[in-house]
Amino acid sequence: MPSQPDEPARSWRHTPPDAVRAAAEHYFGEGLARAQRYAELLATDGVVRGLIGPREAPRLWERHLLNSVAVAERIPDGASVVDVGSGAGLPGIPLAIARPDLTVVLLEPLLRRATFLEEVVAALGLERVSVMRARAEDAADRLSPAEVVVSRALAPLDRLAAWCLPLTAVGGHVVAVKGASAAEEAETHQAAVRRAGGADPVVDVCGASMLDPPATVIDIRRDRAVRAGPDRAVQTGLPGVQSGGNRRSRGPRGGPR
Ligand SMILES: C[S@@+](CC[C@H](N)C(=O)[O-])C[C@H]1O[C@@H](n2cnc3c(N)ncnc32)[C@H](O)[C@@H]1O
Repeated sequence: MPSQPDEPARSWRHTPPDAVRAAAEHYFGEGLARAQRYAELLATDGVVRGLIGPREAPRLWERHLLNSVAVAERIPDGASVVDVGSGAGLPGIPLAIARPDLTVVLLEPLLRRATFLEEVVAALGLERVSVMRARAEDAADRLSPAEVVVSRALAPLDRLAAWCLPLTAVGGHVVAVKGASAAEEAETHQAAVRRAGGADPVVDVCGASMLDPPATVIDIRRDRAVRAGPDRAVQTGLPGVQSGGNRRSRGPRGGPR
């Protein structure tokens, strides 16, 4: 690739490729320079420290940053968000860059990854983002219930629901970025999701007008609280929780969904 005359090589290498530049500008808007800095950190420190596979570095925008940030369209204004199993910061960091109105907790149990996340948050100056080093199962007592709990490549849906629904406010949503298995998982694990306090899982796509392929997600509304502990199937019974909820939604930069 030819270098561009006025920029150091490491800078242009992490700009979005032409094919996805419009999508990157659409989602990140004024945060695009920060998103480029994040791509650079992933492609350098992230690869050296084993958080991102070397083969992912050339396709960070298409496969990782945009696939993550597309979830923004399902998150209401000013929401509290927990990213469970954040790893190197996906999807939580792209969401926080694109949506400075969000308060984001990056939940990650592994020290090496949590340390990287702390460094990225500091380097990017993400003031409304914090890192918690914990497993999801141990975090519910330490976190206020979030309006939206996100995850990506975390676990099969039954386990994911058991981990994420207890972190979600009643009436809030779990939004899990999934791959081609989404519809099958939603069907197979429907009963487990309901036992964990969720409504029926809904498979949908994010970014259909901007991304090819769009991001496939499973969205679960938290219907009711279930008692913590081994018998997660016991319902505590919160009357008056309405189906469908009343959450506000908006497009990725304030526009309509
Ligand atoms: C396959 S990685 C995905 C990382 C990132 N979300 C992504 O899309 O690149 C799964 C992550 O979940 C974390 N994890 C595994 N078990 C967990 C648990 N019980 N609670 C929270 N995170 C967990 C792992 O440490 C790992 O960082």
